[in-house]
Amino acid sequence: MSAHATRLVDVDWSAFDPWRIQAVQHRLMEHPLLQPDQLIELGKRLEIDGRVRTHSNEAVAGTPFNTAPRLHPNRKSAAETLQQIRDAKAWMSLLNVQSDPTYRTLVDEVLDELKVGVDRSDPGMCYRGGWIFVTSPNTVTPFHFDKEHNFILQIRGRKTLYVWDHRDTVAASEQARDRFHARHERDLLVWRDELRERAHVFHLEPGQGAYMPSTSPHMVENGSEPSITVSFTYYTDATRRDSLLHKAHDRMRSLGITPPPVGQNKGLDALVHGGWRFASNSAQLARHLAGRTIRPDSAPYAFADVY
Ligand SMILES: [Fe+2]
Repeated sequence: MSAHATRLVDVDWSAFDPWRIQAVQHRLMEHPLLQPDQLIELGKRLEIDGRVRTHSNEAVAGTPFNTAPRLHPNRKSAAETLQQIRDAKAWMSLLNVQSDPTYRTLVDEVLDELKVGVDRSDPGMCYRGGWIFVTSPNTVTPFHFDKEHNFILQIRGRKTLYVWDHRDTVAASEQARDRFHARHERDLLVWRDELRERAHVFHLEPGQGAYMPSTSPHMVENGSEPSITVSFTYYTDATRRDSLLHKAHDRMRSLGITPPPVGQNKGLDALVHGGWRFASNSAQLARHLAGRTIRPDSAPYAFADVY
């Protein structure tokens, strides 16, 4: 068997750009940890610590992502929902599965492999995370973005994934990104149906997936069958730098200064990044000396209570 045939995820590395959306293929459909019985057991373990996010099928593309579980609750337990997913009318995400010792092996298996290719243009992979989405027919993942780079892979069922370029200021303003990085708030993201026309659209079937750079807005519509999807996520040196710049810009906006978009003025970015990193490191050191918990974004794995 050739080395190529044993790969879990196929990426066209010659075309890979860490800031460009790209289709990928994979062979994870038969992975033992991604089968329904195993996911029911994982759901039971994660639910104990509140590491399950769920809402009903009443959530739509424009539902505010952060509050969807509260606005449209799914009152069934994780086990009940996962066992009856065809009829549960529910969307469920098993969060930060790398916090489970068994599933950390899956996250490492996949990201160790991807790191070899990613490192060539985007070094410093850290803050590894895994997310498993088990969803009833015709459910929707509301329009949102995340901080991590993301390989999203379809395991069972079909989904339509809409993704917008991370520089698309029509889909998400620069201010919305600043605010999200600084405060984890997505309230400046506004869904409009006409956004569909400017999206990269992936009709995902088992074995297919996509790479989505940090803060690429996305929205997902499930097909008429239950679906299982998995995401493998991480930060790199570049995403951590980008995040720090957005945080600094958010602070500047609160002082009445409108900075140029991140990436537009490289000299200014370098200056702001140097200053803000020094301030941020000093603040972290002070918190550490005061005996408070610090959660550096350079940690090898994502923290289980941050999402
Ligand atoms: Fe997401």
